[in-house]
Amino acid sequence: MQDFIAALPKAELHLHIEGSFEPELMFEIAQRNKIEIPYKTIEEVKKAYQFSCLQDFLDIYYAGAGVLIHENDFYDLAMAYYQKCYENNVIHTEIMFDPQTHTQRGIAFEIVINGLQKARLDAKEKWGINSLFIMSYLRHLSEESAFETLKQSLPYKDLITSVGLDSSEMGNPPAKFKNVFEASVKEGYIPVAHAGEEGPADYIREAIDILKVARIDHGNRCLEDENLVQEIVKRDLALTVCPLSNLELRNTDVMTNHPLKKLLDKGIKATVNSDDPAYFGGYMNANFEAVQEALNLSKEDIITLVKNSFNYSFATDEQKKTYLEKVDEVVNEFAK
Ligand code: ADE
Ligand code: ZN
Repeated sequence: MQDFIAALPKAELHLHIEGSFEPELMFEIAQRNKIEIPYKTIEEVKKAYQFSCLQDFLDIYYAGAGVLIHENDFYDLAMAYYQKCYENNVIHTEIMFDPQTHTQRGIAFEIVINGLQKARLDAKEKWGINSLFIMSYLRHLSEESAFETLKQSLPYKDLITSVGLDSSEMGNPPAKFKNVFEASVKEGYIPVAHAGEEGPADYIREAIDILKVARIDHGNRCLEDENLVQEIVKRDLALTVCPLSNLELRNTDVMTNHPLKKLLDKGIKATVNSDDPAYFGGYMNANFEAVQEALNLSKEDIITLVKNSFNYSFATDEQKKTYLEKVDEVVNEFAK
């Protein structure tokens, strides 16, 4: 099963680039930018990465991102992630980035996007990886701040596919961002949002009804509302589920209780993703392996999950066709 997971070409639909910041690279960049970080060794870092909830994690995640200053830093960060994509056979990825995490510290939007864009081109050339960018608004900040970010993004509109909503969910419902999502859609961005990770099922409903999302990030808590489940199925909305994240942020107590299989059984188009792999202990293959083992998923389940990711990606129909053919090639190879 491990070989099968590794051999399958995969798409990743929920990945925060700032969450792929491995401690080794963080040390290196902190040193060259002459920034003090509160850890001396990798062991100290790993010890700090024990989270009791989303906010606990976010505090450490934002602090880590604070060492990113120059275009080169964002380039190195993204290239390190693309290298992991290559190693995990991720051939298509939709990368979230949080402009406000950087602009709030005085780093210009263009520094961030230019570094990411250079890495995207190099990763395509070096490894053939296709990628799209999702610009995520921080929901703990105001809608006005999100509007400012939208404005800053416009000169780079052609580089960005989608807008998302992340950060502290409780107390920051999707409805808070109704106007900026409307304006973002008018600019051509596809709307997605984190909902029902820690927050209630009602937040998922708001993301659907008010933000008009094309996909739901996490969405695990939809299972608490059967009508909502039916609505998600009816509207054919995919969920970008993140198993190791759910475990590390205590949204799932043990992996054997993870809701992924239940979601699939309800007819929901679930996908597997790594969220913040440097913080949660694993990239795509590790996420697949962890849920496969805990939930005893079959090969058919794995194929469904992998195909869902391609089908519900924002790739073109032509790309999707090519991707799915590549999946079938590997499936047929393993069936021999
Ligand atoms: N930002 C980075 N990772 C996140 C997560 N899992 N939930 C909300 N915001 C995030
Ligand atoms: Zn996320």
